[in-house]
Amino acid sequence: MLHFFPPNNEKMRSKVPSLVGVVDVLVANLEDGVPLGEKEAARAGLVEVATTVNFGTTQLWTRVNSLDSPWCLADIRAAVVDCAGAVDVIILPKVEGPEDIHYADRLIAQLEAESGRSTPMLIHAILETARGVANVEEICLASPRMQGLSLGPADLAANRRMKTTRVGGGHPDYLVRSDPDPENTDAPRAVYQQDLWHYTIARMVDACVTAGILPYYGPFGDIRDTTACADQFRNAYLLGCVGAWSLHPDQIAVAKEVFSPSAAEVAHARRVIDAMGDGTGAIMLDGKMEDDASVKQCQVVVQLAAQLAATDPELAALYGIGN
Ligand code: GLV
Ligand code: MG
Repeated sequence: MLHFFPPNNEKMRSKVPSLVGVVDVLVANLEDGVPLGEKEAARAGLVEVATTVNFGTTQLWTRVNSLDSPWCLADIRAAVVDCAGAVDVIILPKVEGPEDIHYADRLIAQLEAESGRSTPMLIHAILETARGVANVEEICLASPRMQGLSLGPADLAANRRMKTTRVGGGHPDYLVRSDPDPENTDAPRAVYQQDLWHYTIARMVDACVTAGILPYYGPFGDIRDTTACADQFRNAYLLGCVGAWSLHPDQIAVAKEVFSPSAAEVAHARRVIDAMGDGTGAIMLDGKMEDDASVKQCQVVVQLAAQLAATDPELAALYGIGN
């Protein structure tokens, strides 16, 4: 999970050390959500956190203001030059095309050279304009600095003139209705709510895999509705995303639960891999056909479990790895 915090808020800054080791990534947010009069304070808060907190295996990222804003240049300079190498990834919002990534790439390179930074700063772009979605493959392939993409459903909905007023998630009116019963045309008909974000997430996943980078679902604004949050995250997970944002501590556990395979899924995947021997041919297991392609799917699950277990002792124990 990418856990967002407002670095302009002193109380939130003081909580950062307690989140190290609990979340995968801490994101100091300088963009939307930070009031106009606190943009400089947010940037200073990022630098303070970066230079005073020991992040261990948790990464520190920052979401800078967009390239067309008056704050972006100073934000990127602070992240690259003033944060003593502590920031791993810059999140660029409202990316429209590969030209935005090229521009940020060259700018970051200049600042890296100036500061003597030895590890490359990576870029994570937010897909939150229609033009960005139309150019998603070129964006992903625009620079070796590209780490991944997040869906930005709130800005994307506004930019597309979708008629929603929410931050991510579904809408009760986006539905299909079952056909009328010919014997009783007045009988109530079942309706099924559809996922507003299916198309965009699927495109994002294909573009990211093409470029060898990682796709994430973004924010889910209804903090109290952890059930719907888990559903939205799970749809993204099943389609190929590796994570999501958490905007509130209550969403940390939701993201961890959804984006980590269950012990039963891992056990099933291992069973198929074992039963398939060298991985070729076809067998029947519990009445189901397994072949080279199902082994590959099972390997995705087993490899994910191993990656998660490498930094999370709780998951390592759940999957029976390393003990
Ligand atoms: C995130 O930034 C969004 O606009 O959804
Ligand atoms: Mg946004």
